[in-house]
Amino acid sequence: MDKIRINGGRPLSGEVLISGAKNSALPCIAATLLTAEPVWLQNAPRRVRDVTTIILLLEHLGINASWEGDVLRLEADSIDEFEAPYDMVKTMRASVLVLGPLVARFGKAVVSLPGGCAIGARPIDMHLKGLEALGATISIEHGYVNASANKLRGAHYRFPNVTVTGTENLVLAASLAEGETILENCAIEPEVGDVIALIRKMGAKITGDDKSTLRIQGVAALHGAEHSIIPDRIEAGTFLMAGAITGGKIAVKRCCPEHLTAAIGKLEENGCRIERGKNEILIESPEVLKPADVETQPYPLFPTDLQAQYMAVMTQAAGISTIHETIFENRFMHVGELQRMRADIKIHGHIAEVHGRTPLSGASVMATDLRASASLILAGLVAEGTTVIQRVYHIDRGYERIEEKLRGLGAHIERIS
Ligand code: EPZ
Repeated sequence: MDKIRINGGRPLSGEVLISGAKNSALPCIAATLLTAEPVWLQNAPRRVRDVTTIILLLEHLGINASWEGDVLRLEADSIDEFEAPYDMVKTMRASVLVLGPLVARFGKAVVSLPGGCAIGARPIDMHLKGLEALGATISIEHGYVNASANKLRGAHYRFPNVTVTGTENLVLAASLAEGETILENCAIEPEVGDVIALIRKMGAKITGDDKSTLRIQGVAALHGAEHSIIPDRIEAGTFLMAGAITGGKIAVKRCCPEHLTAAIGKLEENGCRIERGKNEILIESPEVLKPADVETQPYPLFPTDLQAQYMAVMTQAAGISTIHETIFENRFMHVGELQRMRADIKIHGHIAEVHGRTPLSGASVMATDLRASASLILAGLVAEGTTVIQRVYHIDRGYERIEEKLRGLGAHIERIS
């Protein structure tokens, strides 16, 4: 199994190009099940393993998928399978995104319950309640969700809590329902806006995006379209933090600065000098980082998917910072590994207290989930000596060739198999 080896202690410099967003590509790919006509997705992150996984799932359902360079062509004109098996869903929870489109277009779907994951129980009750509100009959047997409906019909549904893929699943389903659907307390993450932009090009009638209340006028059928996936704001944020923690000066290019307002604001509080361009961000790290507390919240506030990376940065800040994780109940798995690198972090329930400035010491560490592995890479970049990260398959789920991109910025990092 691959490992990543880092010799730390070098400030990063230069520029890095950001890939398309994993968390937009997944719902956009699932959305292509809504039409029999071909859909072209540009800027899809081809080397992100979760993208490969969802394409394999859609091919299992009968979709024709092919790449033309970085353009993904999908055509759902011969869907003959309506079951998303456990073996596929267990490797990637976002597989649940086929549920809404299959019920909406074909009136049936059998999707394995994703089960829990390293960062939390992550139930899908709001996805199911929402589909029931649209008239689907839902039953759960032997670990599978059975969903059926002659025809979904418009309804008024309020999400008890903000859910990203829950919002996406219901928007996709409602786009082919009879009549109007009003969804309240929706997630407004840029990735939600991006899949709405795609299905709008496919003929969907949706108003209110970027707002927490969406109105979807169902249509009889959707057609093909071309769409370019937005840049990955979490990858961009990860590289900004790599610049901050190493005392570097880097340009993060082909990204969308507006999508990173909360993270940029925090890094400026830490003393980083940041310049925003049209689709690039220049970050210069100060001599000494200042501590700043953070609380994860739904967009547009500080994203939980940058929490672990920010914690690594705070180990190098002069003073105490607290990190309050409010989205997932178990998203501090990286703390134990950072402590193995001599980080001084104390956990009080969902709050981590980071005492800095602590010189980190390179060590062998274990990745536990996607973003935790990114935080270990950041820690390895600043640690004295060599860090070896195991189970890097976690990082490949959401980053395209991260070690090559970091090497391009002057890091001493390599993948060892
Ligand atoms: C999306 O997951 C992202 N994944 C996650 O990114 C991200 O961490 C998360 O949103 C929050 O921003 C994708 O977009 C593919 P939620 P999702 O439903 O949709 C609870 C990464 O690192 N909840 O918004 O699964 C849930 O348990 C990944 O790229 C219910 O209780 O997250 C959590 O506590 C990790 N019932 C909270 O809501 C439900 O039916 C928010 O989860 C749905 C969610």
